Amino acid sequence: GIKIATIGGGSSYTPELVEGFIKRYAELPIRELWLVDIEAGREKLEIVGAMAKRMVKAAGIDCEVHLTLDRREALKDADFVTTQFRVGLLEARIKDESIPLKHGMIGQETNGAGGMFKAFRTIPVILSIVEDMKELCPNAWLINFTNPAGMVTEAVLRYGQWDKVIGLCNVPIGAIKSASAVLDKPEEELFFKFAGINHLHWHKVYDKTGAELTEQVIEGLYAPGAKPEKVVENIRNMRFLYDQVRQLKMLPCPYHRYYYMTDNMLKEELEEAKNEGTRGQVVKRLEDSLFELYKDPNLDYKPEELSKRGGAHYSDAACEIINSIYNNKGTLMVVSTRNNGAIDDVPYDSAIEVTSVIRAHGAEPVNFGKFPPAQRGLLQVMKAMEELTIEAAVTGDYATALQAFTLNPLVPSGDIAQTVLDELLEAHKEHLPQF
Ligand code: NAD
Ligand code: G6P
Ligand code: MN
Repeated sequence: GIKIATIGGGSSYTPELVEGFIKRYAELPIRELWLVDIEAGREKLEIVGAMAKRMVKAAGIDCEVHLTLDRREALKDADFVTTQFRVGLLEARIKDESIPLKHGMIGQETNGAGGMFKAFRTIPVILSIVEDMKELCPNAWLINFTNPAGMVTEAVLRYGQWDKVIGLCNVPIGAIKSASAVLDKPEEELFFKFAGINHLHWHKVYDKTGAELTEQVIEGLYAPGAKPEKVVENIRNMRFLYDQVRQLKMLPCPYHRYYYMTDNMLKEELEEAKNEGTRGQVVKRLEDSLFELYKDPNLDYKPEELSKRGGAHYSDAACEIINSIYNNKGTLMVVSTRNNGAIDDVPYDSAIEVTSVIRAHGAEPVNFGKFPPAQRGLLQVMKAMEELTIEAAVTGDYATALQAFTLNPLVPSGDIAQTVLDELLEAHKEHLPQF
């Protein structure tokens, strides 16, 4: 039987994961699921953990759910370690969003100044998990969902010296569904070629006759008069500029709106923050009502309300990757993994997000080659920004952090960069011992 350890087990997404494991139980016999959290998450862990136990019991499968605050106990002899933790909880996310916004910059969980600070808080923790894994479960796979998922994966590869890691995101699953809907063709008949980095990738679409349908999807989604696209719950559905997207000859991901439409997105964010609060504040209310539901001793299935979170389809990604590795299935999935030359425009040893074949030995990226200048320019700036951010997260070097800020397209350079950097360092100092 398989042992899974899930770090950040108190997350409201846990029922999504448990549902995915239940669905796949015949192929993927998980005998032990260890949900790990910290003292600050004890109450959430207890509530969602009890709910996970009810789900497993109702499904009648032979799987024991364990709840613990002792990470080492959970990691001991684990086969797969999944990570879904949030250092500093939603309070920290709200600061990441509202401090840049106050200075007229995009305030976002994984982008801009806030996204860089999420990396600063998270990377030391993931590296300490990797150190524990070397000792307690040296053969395990690390399946990382914790954001910023691309930078966290790269930190594990580059500084953790741990190769058995795959980063995941649900955005590509949504993009596949949306292309299949506008083309009115089943997903299984389409081939998707994704390349880029997490929350900044582009893709092409082909049908079963070999015809490329990318431009047809662009027309269907973004031509004047097109029906608005359904995007992840956390991003405002702002129409891209048709001519600019057409020029790409590839489909952008929803997060490209922050880079291609910065002024419009900033206006939206300011408006939303005034009316309902930042996304983190909205999520906090959503999470409170989800946990009220989870407390119901009769609830033994994933409630519909969870679909209001941005991470819909999370279990399709997380559980399927484990299934594909365990059963050497050769499934095609979009994952964060080491480039190894699949994209010619970024360093070999950096993490990219790319369509890959998933086998027992891990992710084998489908070669992409070179991007045209529009994609290449943004990608290379963002990748260099990520490298600097990861280095600053590891070393705590102030000048490196300032350089990362300076390079980030969502942060203006100069005194303003330094002001926001200093303010965020102060606001988060409890979770930034390295600085
Ligand atoms: P959350 O705020 O509910 O946090 C999850 C749990 O992590 C909490 O119970 C918290 O106590 C715990 N935690 C914090 N620090 C910890 C530590 N050091 N060790 C163990 N547990 C710790 O978060 P959430 O909204 O459920 O999101 C969880 C994570 O998943 C976030 O990082 C989020 O960005 C990410 N996420 C990623 C995707 C994706 O596409 N990859 C989608 C959705 C969410
Ligand atoms: C998307 C992204 C995730 C992100 C989430 C936020 O699905 O892929 O990486 O964490 O949305 O959703 P939330 O409901 O927390 O705003
Ligand atoms: Mn994501």
